[in-house]
Amino acid sequence: MSERTLVLVKPDGVERGLVGEVIARIERKGLRLAAMDLRIAERSVAEEHYAEHKDKPFYGDLLDFITSGPLVAIAVEGPRAVTAFRQLAGGTDPVEKATPGTIRGDFALETQYNLVHGSDSPESAERELKLWFPDL
Ligand code: CMP
Repeated sequence: MSERTLVLVKPDGVERGLVGEVIARIERKGLRLAAMDLRIAERSVAEEHYAEHKDKPFYGDLLDFITSGPLVAIAVEGPRAVTAFRQLAGGTDPVEKATPGTIRGDFALETQYNLVHGSDSPESAERELKLWFPDL
């Protein structure tokens, strides 16, 4: 059964010219792009997106970073899309957790600048897709 997940190519990924690389990996896996948008995230959207981290010490820096420049929001669709993309992305810490062969494992060094976001569950995906693509 098909499901959807929200992928963000964060401002570091756009700045470094890695949007095409991320999209190529999504497509090669067999997942489809259902919607895509290059935009600067509004602070209110970023706050809601990362609400579960609001008590973490890195929350302020995370909001500053995610709103610091253009990002690419993508609705990705396919069988087990949530898990499939999280495997493509690799673990949150690009050195300790993400293995080579994953997006973060191949291209990132710091947890804050880990290039991509992928929803962590189908429930999160539904919430996040409503937030980023209300008309989808
Ligand atoms: P993401 O998958 O978008 O979800 C939460 C984000 O918070 C995560 O990727 C990282 O970019 C960031 N993050 C998580 N842990 C830390 C940390 N210890 N220091 C800085 N940023 C973090």
